Amino acid sequence: MNDLVQTAIGMRDKARAPYSEYKVGAAVETIDGKIIGGCNVENACYPLSNCAEQTALFTAIAEGAFQFKAIAVSTENGGFPCGACRQVIWELCGDIPVYICDKNGLLNETTSKDLLPNAFDKTKLK
Ligand code: THU
Repeated sequence: MNDLVQTAIGMRDKARAPYSEYKVGAAVETIDGKIIGGCNVENACYPLSNCAEQTALFTAIAEGAFQFKAIAVSTENGGFPCGACRQVIWELCGDIPVYICDKNGLLNETTSKDLLPNAFDKTKLK
């Protein structure tokens, strides 16, 4: 868990956040123990910006990962994932631990299920 948290914290240095100046780092751990990082990447057309959690997960998927053990997110002030990220984490990871960190270390541990109760999930409609 410490490596995951440290990677998320370190990923803040790679953030592209010239508009909000709010740097976010994230890291996911795959089922086989690989850690993949992501950061927020902002665009002048604001809605085109990408959150750190989604960058990490999309990078992991692009690298061939498909099952995840945990995710960590690091912000200046220990902020929690936004609603869109909660949906993406739930869909791609299911119920996993979510480590909430500020720029120095771990502050909170929660789960993707607790962050998004009664999630939209088409796979459960059948
Ligand atoms: N942001 C994330 O990277 N993850 C979240 O869960 C919430 C928000 C980013 C988006 C934007 O670049 C900046 O934080 C300020 O909203």
